[in-house]
Amino acid sequence: MRIDSIKFAEHFADAPDGESLAALDLTRIPSHVSCIMDGNGRWAIARGLSRAEGHKAGIVALREIITTCVRLGVDVLSAYAFSTENWTRPQHEVNLLMHLFAKTFIDELPLLRREDVRVVFLGDISALPRKTREVFEFGLRECENHRGMILALAVNYGGRAEITRAARLIAQQVAAGQLALSDVDERTLSDRLYTVDLPDPELVIRTSGEFRVSNYLLWQIAYAEFYVTDTCWPDFDRWGLLEAILSYQGRERRFGGVGAGARS
Ligand code: FPP
Repeated sequence: MRIDSIKFAEHFADAPDGESLAALDLTRIPSHVSCIMDGNGRWAIARGLSRAEGHKAGIVALREIITTCVRLGVDVLSAYAFSTENWTRPQHEVNLLMHLFAKTFIDELPLLRREDVRVVFLGDISALPRKTREVFEFGLRECENHRGMILALAVNYGGRAEITRAARLIAQQVAAGQLALSDVDERTLSDRLYTVDLPDPELVIRTSGEFRVSNYLLWQIAYAEFYVTDTCWPDFDRWGLLEAILSYQGRERRFGGVGAGARS
């Protein structure tokens, strides 16, 4: 994605001490950055606030990360907002999250318009409460013609459920004679995932210090680079993202082959 150099400079103008953009290689920005937004609850409890306040602060952080990814020329930003396992949280927290998701999508439409961001959902949004689903469907229509960065929000998402769904779709097509078993390959499966048409994540960031995948994009992260920070999601900002990308740029990606240093 093209970088607007004036907006880029403005966005990163107030660098705190010790932060430097000089080391950033703008030709090697990951095309797809993915965030496991963890630690809203712990951030709130540590401040004597309710978990609800933590989720609200998490939304503010997400807004900053969206804008930062646009400024950096990222093609796809994905974020894990609600897993298929999150339904087991207390009902009042589930209700609050569903309400916040809908409100956030509406509140952020001006930002999505201004920055030309198109939203897609990863997960089964048909199973969401009616109001949330309707707001999502409205919001999707509102930004379907945007041509800038794609924001992929994983809501009611589970990696195993996604792969199972794809396997069922393939089985149905094979059984109906629409697809030959001998034609089923990795592409057949990836074309039936929620992420169809999106590049695989190159950088996965998990906040709040947890070293877990949590059933997230299991197929798509096969060769992703992982970055874990102790920062809780509400405190994760443009500078945190910059650190993550610098760490990514410092790594040698091998995709199962040998590293450049080992080649003769
Ligand atoms: C994890 O913190 C965070 C979430 C479950 C929700 C994150 C969602 C957003 C920031 C907004 C997404 C917006 C839209 C429009 C979909 P946690 O509660 O697991 O924190 P803890 O591990 O400290 O308890």
